[in-house]
Amino acid sequence: MKERLLNTMLNKKVFYNISKLYSLQGGVRVKEKLSDVSIIENAFIYVENEIIKEIGKMDNNFVFNEDIQYIDLEGKIVTPGFIDAHTHLVFLGNRNEEYLERMGGQTYLEGLKKGKGIYKTVEDTKNASIEELVKKAKENALYLISKGVTTIESKSGYGLDLDTEIKQLRVNNEVASLLNIDIVSTYLGAHAVPKNMSKEDYIDFMINVVMPFIKKEGLAEFIDVFTERNVFSIEDTIKIFDKAKELGFKLKIHADEMTPLGGAGLAAKYKCISADHLLCAKEEDLINMKENNVVAMLLPMTSFNLKKNYANISFMKENGLIIALSTDFNPGSSPCNDFIMMMRVASRVYNLTPSEILSMVTINAAKALDKDWIMGSLEKNKQADFVVFDEESFDDVIISMGNPYLKEVYKKGQLIWRDNNEWTR
Ligand code: NIG
Ligand code: FE
Repeated sequence: MKERLLNTMLNKKVFYNISKLYSLQGGVRVKEKLSDVSIIENAFIYVENEIIKEIGKMDNNFVFNEDIQYIDLEGKIVTPGFIDAHTHLVFLGNRNEEYLERMGGQTYLEGLKKGKGIYKTVEDTKNASIEELVKKAKENALYLISKGVTTIESKSGYGLDLDTEIKQLRVNNEVASLLNIDIVSTYLGAHAVPKNMSKEDYIDFMINVVMPFIKKEGLAEFIDVFTERNVFSIEDTIKIFDKAKELGFKLKIHADEMTPLGGAGLAAKYKCISADHLLCAKEEDLINMKENNVVAMLLPMTSFNLKKNYANISFMKENGLIIALSTDFNPGSSPCNDFIMMMRVASRVYNLTPSEILSMVTINAAKALDKDWIMGSLEKNKQADFVVFDEESFDDVIISMGNPYLKEVYKKGQLIWRDNNEWTR
């Protein structure tokens, strides 16, 4: 009796009858290892209190113990939960006008220079109440979850003033607890210079007021900078990074997205956890990133949506960089929170196999958040975050452009999303 009570408290669960378990165990994937997704056939996952205690093959000795809850996954396939490690999740309003202007030939940076682009979203987000922001961000996050995402990185940067930036970061925490997922918060005050301030004053304000406040309140784990021509220069970024390091933040950077400023080289120097975009990154800077273990975060939907070139992924692969993929979900440069669409586009534009894609959105994406010790693969002592597909293999999820037959999403062993459509198989 005592033992049974203890087992219930421990919340012991076995997920069994998994035809293919894509475990991704064994650490980050580079070069040829990118294709090795460590499949276990006819598998089970044993979970105690959110954490995987064992995975393996269901052999003849597989026994049912009455103290444990058994969940039959009916011969479906299982992958780790996807990690969307670069998003701008919290905002209000749309950028339809800017889109139409771009269709007329205007570039993204021209729109920003005219005081539109990011500034339009800043206005909309400033004017929003916390309830409105939570409602919208929750809707958008839930859609990501319905596409297999169990962890989201979410940046501020649509407030620029103290109150709105803090509001955005608090919304992250609220949405994470409402939806029972992990949201990793990043302060991206350096997204644009507010219209009523000089750049120098704004940088002083960020490093002397906002960053210490965020640290004290524990509202963000990362500091990110949009290092771009006419936005923040390399020198500006250095000022922000120096203070961020002193305060104990981890670093990310929007690097070499539209112009080759050298953000990738700076990322290597400052040992950023990831450098993101990298469309115009110099080869020597990429090599430097590799030597300093900086993850190359590629965002295919941004190139696609802005009709830009794609990052030089073959060079990155050949040279052994750790490559990850994310949506960059935001209302301007990448209005896409369909994670499955992102993976399918990535496969086609970067010439990646489904297995390579899977490595880049699980264990490698976990590394881009410095969380590969607890998530990104299905193995002992990691969180039981996983997705159940009614497909024969993960290849079908990427090669098909239609319904991915995604059935269920589990976070820390708990069901957080299920497909209730009767018409699917
Ligand atoms: O990652 N480039 C800067 N930041 C975002 C775009 C944000 C926006 O346009 O609202 C990006 O592409
Ligand atoms: Fe971004």
